[in-house]
Amino acid sequence: MTPRKVIIDCDPGQDDAVALFLAMSAPDELEVLGVTTVAGNVPLELTQRNARMMCDIAGRTDMRVYAGCDKPMKLEAITAEYIHGNTGIDGVDVFDPKTPLQDMHAVDYIIDTLRNAAKGTVTLIPTGPMTNIATAIQRDPAILDAVDRIVSMGGAMREGGNRSPSAEFNVLVDPHAADIVYNCGRPVTAVGLDVTHKVLSTRERVARIRGVGNKVAEATAGMLSFFHRYDTKKYGSEGAPLHDPCTVAWLLRPDLFETRVCNLSVETSSELTLGHTAVDFWHVTDRPHNVEWTYAVDAEGFYDLLVERLARFGG
Ligand code: BDR
Ligand code: CA
Repeated sequence: MTPRKVIIDCDPGQDDAVALFLAMSAPDELEVLGVTTVAGNVPLELTQRNARMMCDIAGRTDMRVYAGCDKPMKLEAITAEYIHGNTGIDGVDVFDPKTPLQDMHAVDYIIDTLRNAAKGTVTLIPTGPMTNIATAIQRDPAILDAVDRIVSMGGAMREGGNRSPSAEFNVLVDPHAADIVYNCGRPVTAVGLDVTHKVLSTRERVARIRGVGNKVAEATAGMLSFFHRYDTKKYGSEGAPLHDPCTVAWLLRPDLFETRVCNLSVETSSELTLGHTAVDFWHVTDRPHNVEWTYAVDAEGFYDLLVERLARFGG
């Protein structure tokens, strides 16, 4: 099987970091062409460093990491240190990574890569605010020809918002970018809080991950233990939602998820509900079906997959 070519566009973030590990664990299935970073959970300076640290931990100092947009398309930046800690990846010790930062801007890298790729051959995986991808699309819409699919973490329907009463963080931070991405005309799988809130990192699951015993699993367990604190208190649940790795898991094991093709529209102007994703799950409008909305997940199967993949790393 030829591996699927992917670009991961992220704002690490503990859960983005685990998404990177999961993607790098499956070279037979996913060829990570590059990792692009964006301002989100923490400022760009930290998200690019964190992504490079994760490549080091995974033994992939050859990975190409790019820094992109340092603020949303039209709004001021919002960060989330109160969830992720001041480093964005509290739970692992910060170090100066060997994986270099590429000189090119992430948006230029995305445009360049897609311009040079064959039709429908590259999958984009945004796990942060979608500023880099939307900016690339806006600058050169023809690049979409090379896109096979976009698998994004963002939005919420039944769960309501996590950063405002109506909006999920990634979409709230840059609703204008999300609007461009969801309506870009290529197939979009939208993984939102309805699913990620079911994938809880319970103590038992974190212990299972730690038990894998290699460096990557140790880092994952460390980050999830930290992540645990805030979300467990907020939701009153045993364990925090593990959002971003659901995108990669969907690519590796779509059978773990249930999806429905429907319309998703983003609120871009209301002060009260900015960033709300109006998901027309029951097809009550005739708006075009622009996304495959994920609404159910086999959480146990997800953690089995994660544990099995983390065990593939050496050391
Ligand atoms: C999303 O927001 C961030 O805090 C996480 O990394 C995830 O991408 C969940 O709303
Ligand atoms: Ca993220």
